[in-house]
Amino acid sequence: MKRRLLAAALAALPALAHAAQDPPQVRTLAGSCANCHGTAGRAVGAMPSLAGLAPAYFVEQMRQFRDGRRPATVMHQIAKGYSDDEIALLAEFFARQPK
Ligand code: HEC
Repeated sequence: MKRRLLAAALAALPALAHAAQDPPQVRTLAGSCANCHGTAGRAVGAMPSLAGLAPAYFVEQMRQFRDGRRPATVMHQIAKGYSDDEIALLAEFFARQPK
């Protein structure tokens, strides 16, 4: 039993190491935000920038949009299309982008 747990933990390691860089899917996910929030989250004009936002703040805003707790024009719809895992990936990605 213990050995099986260890094997499972070891099997997950490459995935974790990979997530420390940019997993390929996060660039695709983040690409959907670029139209409005700018390339790599650096917005021009009145649109809020995502680059450099604290991950905890980012995740909380996405949850509030999704649950309808933060009023929005479009983000309440957009936020519904992403799972918690995807939102966590996006939060880490945008936090790493220079403002
Ligand atoms: C169609 C344009 C559009 C797209 C596409 C879009 N957003 Fe937004 N986003 C907005 C607008 C407009 C706001 C301000 C809230 C509102 O009115 O919906 C906003 C606000 C936000 C905020 C809050 C920022 C802050 O400073 O509080 C976050 C976080 C966010 N968007 C994340 C995302 C992510 C992640 C994606 C891609 C998955 C995305 N947005 C795609 C238009 C967009």
